[in-house]
Amino acid sequence: MTTPMIRMRNVTMIYENGVVALDDVSVDVGKGELAFLTGPSGAGKSTFLKLITAEEKPTEGLVEVAGHDLSRLRRRDVPYLRRRIGVVFQDFRLLNERTVMENVMLPLTILGLASGEQRRRALQVLAVVGLGQRKDATPLELSGGEQQRVAIARAIALDPAILLADEPTGNLDPDITWHIMKLFRVINARGTAVVIATHDYDVVKRMDARIIQILKGKLPQEVVS
Ligand SMILES: Nc1ncnc2c1ncn2[C@@H]1O[C@H](COP(=O)(O)OP(=O)(O)OP(=O)(O)O)[C@@H](O)[C@H]1O
Ligand SMILES: [Mg+2]
Repeated sequence: MTTPMIRMRNVTMIYENGVVALDDVSVDVGKGELAFLTGPSGAGKSTFLKLITAEEKPTEGLVEVAGHDLSRLRRRDVPYLRRRIGVVFQDFRLLNERTVMENVMLPLTILGLASGEQRRRALQVLAVVGLGQRKDATPLELSGGEQQRVAIARAIALDPAILLADEPTGNLDPDITWHIMKLFRVINARGTAVVIATHDYDVVKRMDARIIQILKGKLPQEVVS
C-alpha cells in the first residue's frame, strides 16, 4: 500500500475553552485524491485543515502528512511543511496594493528563486487559472471569482503536494463557484491532492468526488483500517 498524503488516526482536538472540535477522527486522503470536507458550521472543518498545516496540534492522536508524523516536527521544519501545502481561503487574502503577478510571485520570492524563474513559474500557474492576460491588474480591479483564481494560482505556485481550500466559494455566486470547483479538478489532475472544506452540500453533490462528512467533530460514515 502506498503512503497516504494525509493520515489521521484517532485524532481529538479540544480547544483551551473546552470545545471538542474533533472527536476520534480517523481518515486517509491519498496522493492525487480530491475530497470534499462537508458539515454544518462549527462541525470542525477548519480545525481539520489547521491540523494538516500544523497551525493547531491535536490533543490526542496521530496526524501524518506525506508519511511525516507532525508531532515530531521541529519548529524549524514547519516552513518546509507549509511549502508543500497550498492553502486557499474564503476571503482570498491577496495583497491589494500589489499586482496579480506580484501576488503570485510572493511565495517564490520568499523562497529566494531567481527573478526570471519566479516570473516563469508565476506565468505558468496564471495560465492554469486562465488569468495570464490580467497579470498587471491589481486585485481590486478583478471580480471576486478572478481574485480567488489569483489566490489559487499563488497557492499552487510552489507545486504543492496538497492544496487545502477553506470555504473557497463562500463569497462567490453559483456560476463562479462551479467554475472554481472545476479548476480544483484541473489542479488535482496535475497530481496535487485537494481537500475542499465547504458547507455548500449542493455543489458537493454535483461534483461526483469523495465526500468526508463531519458532524459535531465526528466522521460518521468513514471506516478506515
Ligand atoms: N481557536 C479556537 N478556540 C476555541 N474554539 C474554537 C477555535 N476554533 C474553533 N473553535 C470551535 O471549534 C468548533 C469547530 O470549529 P471549526 O472552525 O473547525 O468549524 P467549521 O466546520 O470550520 O465551521 P464553519 O463552517 O463555521 O467555518 C466550533 O465549536 C468552534 O467554535
Ligand atoms: Mg470553517
